[in-house]
Amino acid sequence: MKIGVFDSGYGGLTILEKIRLQLPEYDYLYLGDNARAPYGTRSYELIYHYTWQAVEYLFQQGCSLVILACNTASAKALRSIQQNDIPRINARMGDVEMVNCLGVIRPTVEVVSQMTQTGHIGVLATPGTVQSDSYPIEFSKQDENLVITQQACPMWVPLIESGEHQSEGADYFVKKYLSQLLEQDDQIDTIVLGCTHYPLLLPKIKKELAKTGIRVVAQGDLVAAKLDDYLHRHGEINGSLSRGGTCTYFTTESAEKFRENATLFLRQNIRAQHIELK
Ligand code: DGL
Repeated sequence: MKIGVFDSGYGGLTILEKIRLQLPEYDYLYLGDNARAPYGTRSYELIYHYTWQAVEYLFQQGCSLVILACNTASAKALRSIQQNDIPRINARMGDVEMVNCLGVIRPTVEVVSQMTQTGHIGVLATPGTVQSDSYPIEFSKQDENLVITQQACPMWVPLIESGEHQSEGADYFVKKYLSQLLEQDDQIDTIVLGCTHYPLLLPKIKKELAKTGIRVVAQGDLVAAKLDDYLHRHGEINGSLSRGGTCTYFTTESAEKFRENATLFLRQNIRAQHIELK
């Protein structure tokens, strides 16, 4: 069995890259629903519907564990999947934990809540993640005194999905959303990139924040560390996983377009296969 990594598009590659660095021995399937990205402005119903289609597809392809490497899907679909769909599948297998699906928000919050000195944290995310209030809710479970300020960045995912994240247009929108965040709270000392696409804008974000001393946190490394920990604690799933060190890529867009962009993002040559999600 394999580990599935899902995102609405290319963003999950930033998580996959770090997971494979930390856990290179496993076999992975990556699925980007690029044809239907971005998810960030879509309704709860649609995000859940699309995400479950993708997760089910990855289970059908031989994954026993799927990581939603997408904050929007983690915010809007994970709870329903964990409460309705996973128990249904595991019940068919005699109520043993044979499959599971994990998100990226809780692992991020657990680590980032320990990093701040001022207790003021900024979250940059898609409109869907911001509206869900998943970050403020999860942070308050860790420490109710933390002050969380969110800023939606609706243009960042479209810029990245269209390969424009190194353009001057991207400079403009990086400046715009960062200043909107910091205008809301000038005591922020830690900013979470609460969308897996955003690390592709990290050089621009860091440049913009260079003189502020604010720490910017991308999720890849900490999601990888939490996955490692999860696998140590879940013997049935860990034992079911094959260890061939491979990764296969699926996209709902054209395979060639995905290959070109993913090769650029991952700085390595990859092959992708087009699939339809129904
Ligand atoms: N990478 C997704 C996330 O982490 C982007 C969502 C989108 O498609 O808008 O939220």
